[in-house]
This record gives sequence, structure tokens and C-alpha cells, in this order.
Amino acid sequence: MACEMVGVVGLGTMGAGIAEVFARAGLRVVGVEADEKALERGRGHLRVSTDRALSKGRLTAEGQREILDRITLTTSRAELAEADLVVEAIPEVMAYKSELFADLDRLCKPSAILATNTSSLPVTAIAAATGRPDRVIGMHFFNPAPVMKLVEVVHTVLTGDGVAAEVAGLARRLGKTPVSVGDRAGFVVNRLLLPYLNHAAVLLEQGMATRDGIDTAMRRGAGLPMGPFALLDLIGLDTSYEVMEVLFAESRDRRHAPAPLLRELVSAGLLGRKSGKGFYDHAQESPVSPETRSAISTVRVIGPDADALTERLSAAGFKQVSGADVVLQAGGRPDVRLAPPGRLVGVRVVGDTVAEVAATVLTSPGAALCAADLMKIVGLAPVPCKDRAGGVTGALLYAHLNDAVRMYDSGYASIDDIDTAMKLGCGYPAGPFELLESIGLAKVRDELNAIYTEYREQAFAPAPLLDELVTAGLDAFPRP
Ligand code: 3HC
Repeated sequence: MACEMVGVVGLGTMGAGIAEVFARAGLRVVGVEADEKALERGRGHLRVSTDRALSKGRLTAEGQREILDRITLTTSRAELAEADLVVEAIPEVMAYKSELFADLDRLCKPSAILATNTSSLPVTAIAAATGRPDRVIGMHFFNPAPVMKLVEVVHTVLTGDGVAAEVAGLARRLGKTPVSVGDRAGFVVNRLLLPYLNHAAVLLEQGMATRDGIDTAMRRGAGLPMGPFALLDLIGLDTSYEVMEVLFAESRDRRHAPAPLLRELVSAGLLGRKSGKGFYDHAQESPVSPETRSAISTVRVIGPDADALTERLSAAGFKQVSGADVVLQAGGRPDVRLAPPGRLVGVRVVGDTVAEVAATVLTSPGAALCAADLMKIVGLAPVPCKDRAGGVTGALLYAHLNDAVRMYDSGYASIDDIDTAMKLGCGYPAGPFELLESIGLAKVRDELNAIYTEYREQAFAPAPLLDELVTAGLDAFPRP
């Protein structure tokens, strides 16, 4: 397809980002919004995003003008008549989409491809609502669209020959990497990402750790580009809620039920960045938490990972003494038989910069505080949390990786596609399978078993394929 003119309907954060991506690649864009007010908001998104690139020296003033000049903004859908491709990015309401696609079908030339950027609705149903279901496809971008390199190209049973390949070719022309996926709720990325984010909200609600603690554990400990709450705010809590509803409707898995906390925030209009406030208040700098320092005196380290922690503490000038004020159990669960319970704190070093600090019901507040301060002294960011199997990172990351194994094993996507999708769609430093292999399959399997034993949640049980590989003594996934 010689695609030269593209329409984008809906100029919210995603739609405006998508319009910018096309214009940056030299295509003419017609951006359509429902009314003048929404159009002005869209213009604002385009201006802010390109201003950001300008201020970073990634774009010249002339380049910015050229990009903006390529985009015509209008409230008239009739101006899409000559578009070779139209991408829809309007709110996730099936009735709105059906009405729009019926209209596009009427207005656009017969050769035009109609694409939806839906994050949760079935592309098949959207296609079936038109008279050209063979030329309706999913073209799913990731937020922020100008930055994230992935496009999921969603084909349905109705998609005509060559249409997905055409759209994939266009995605490449935009500098993106297409991954071809079938029409299942959430596709690859949202199907894996959103349950993990939802689970973070459940843990927060359960008081497992604080918002900042969970974000720190996943960003600095697990090495993901953003913590789950910062990411939920970026995606939008309303969108996240909708995706969870759709996943739950398909899977009936209790873990996919949207966290009540998400519903509460959405009902209150706290939608994340788009409304200025969600889990974070984006209008304000995060308040600096008051430094409460404990009077640290003596320490003892026990547990399977004691050596590494002892080394860090020794380097900071701490000597091991018996009868110490605080006993750090490094690795494993804090075992009250091994030390005076009031002084015992579990420590789990995650990555090389974070330590989850688990207080038991018997740990004194002073000992917990002392343990957190000690972690700061040895250069680790403390994440205070409850004493639960897997801690914060295990419960969130390992369950997330386990879902990726199940997805692969279901035949929905290949290992490479899943790894590529999560790296390019969500900025992961390594794909789920690469992460699994670097952490160690056996370690993840064993932790999942412990987490399953604690929560008895079927989804936390190691995926049968993971278990099978470990049992066979393999430490990597066989790739064709
Ligand atoms: N719009 C445009 N550009 C942006 C931007 C935005 N909102 N936010 C950041 N950028 C650009 C910056 O200008 C910068 O560009 P440059 O390299 O050309 O200078 C680049 O992104 C990196 O930005 P920063 O240095 O300011 O910040 P970070 O290094 O912290 O990166 C991030 C920001 C790219 C957002 C990174 O944190 C990340 O990858 N986060 C994960 C995002 C993610 O997971 N997205 C997918 C969500 S799921 C989804 O969208 C699907 C939907 O259906 C729900």
C-alpha cells in the first residue's frame, strides 16, 4: 500500500501521540475530534509532546513546524474520505466504536484500511460491524506513542490476505517493530502487563508495602522502567480498569477482577496523569518522607544469604555480635526460633540496590526501623513490607513471568514475540523469558511454589511447562 494520508480519530493522549508518529514519518495526517474543545486539547497534546523533543534538542524548530504542518485538525469526519488508513483512538465504548466504524465504512474510500487502537475490545466485533471486515484490523500503540517502539498488529479471522502484512510494513516505516497477534482479550502486552499492575494494587490495598515501596522494588529492584503505580497513572486508571474487566470477562480468573482500589480511584475521577492525580499527585512534587532515624547499635546476620549482607555491613564498619539489638535474616522467611522475635527482621536483597525489609507480627517497630536504616547505610533502598512468601518482588515479578510461560504454552505467541513485545512495548530491559533465564528457572519455580502454598491461588502455581523444564534439569527454554 502506498500509504500517504492517514486519519486519526480521537486526539486524547494516545491519538495525538499516534498522529505525531505518522507526521514524524512524513505522512499527511487528518486528526479528527468530536468538537472544538476536544480539538484544542488534542492540539495542546501535540504541542507539548513536540515542545519536549525541541527542548531536548531532538527536534529543530523547523522540524517541529513541519510535523505540525503535516497534521490537519478538524471536527469533520468527511475529511477522511481520501485517507489510505484511519486509526481510531476514541474511548473504549463498543457503541461509540461501532457507530464510528459504520460511519468510516461509509465515508472512506473502499481501499482504505480501518484500524482500531483499542486496548481491550474485540477487533473481530468492530470489524464485523462494517461492510469491509477484511480491511479492519487492530493497530495497537503504546504510551507514550512517540517513544515506545512496539505496534501490535491484531488480525482476526475476517482479516483479508496481505492486510496485516501491509500494516506491519507501515509500522516499520514509522520506525516501530510490529508483532503480529491474534484477537484475544488484551493481546500480548496488556494480557501480561495489566494483571501484574492490578496485583500491585491488590498488594497495596492489603498493606503488603507502601505505594512508594512497591514502586521502588519493581523499578530499582526488578529493573523495570517504572513502578506499577507510576505506570498505572501513565496508562490511565480508567483504561486499566476497563482492560481488567475485559480480561476477567474472558478468563473468569479472580486475579483478573479489577482491584477495588482501582474502582474507587476511577469513581473519584482520579484517573492518573490525564486528570492530574491518580496514585500520585502529578501537580505536586512527591513530598519527601520525613527521615526517622533509629539509634543503630549492634547487629547480627543469619540466614542463607548472610555472607553477602555481612560483607556489606562489615565494609560499613559493623561488627557481628551475638545478643545484638537487631537480627537480620537474609534470605528465606524470618524464623522466630532462630532469634529473639522482637529483634528479628527478614531482609531480601533484590537486584543490587533494593532490600525488602520484612517485619513479622512480633518484630518491634524499633527493630524494623533499625533494619531499614542499616540498609540505607549499606547502599540499599529499603522497602518495608509484611512477611509474606515471595515478598513484594516475588509476588509481582514471578507471577508476571509465570503468566508469560502460560501464554507461550497456550500457543498464543512465541517466546521471541513475547520478549520483543514486553521490551519494546513497556521498555523492559529484558523480555520475560530472558528474565526467567537470568534469575534461574529453578529459583522462580521454587518461589512460585512457596507463594502458591501461602495464597493457594491457582495462578501462582508454577506453570506446568516451567515445572517440566526444571524437572528435566534445563535452565533455558528450548527455542526452535
Ligand atoms: N510523550 C512524548 N515523549 C516522551 C514522553 C511523553 N509522554 N515521556 C517521555 N518522552 C520521551 C522523552 O522526551 C525522551 O525522549 P528523548 O530520548 O528523545 O530525549 C524519552 O521519552 C525518555 O524520556 P525521559 O528521559 O524523560 O524519561 P525516562 O527515561 O524515564 O523514560 C519512559 C520515560 C519512556 C516513559 C519510560 O519510563 C518507559 O519506557 N516506561 C514504560 C512505559 C510503558 O510501559 N508503556 C506501555 C504502557 S501499556 C499501553 O500503553 C497499552 C495501552 O493499551 C494500555
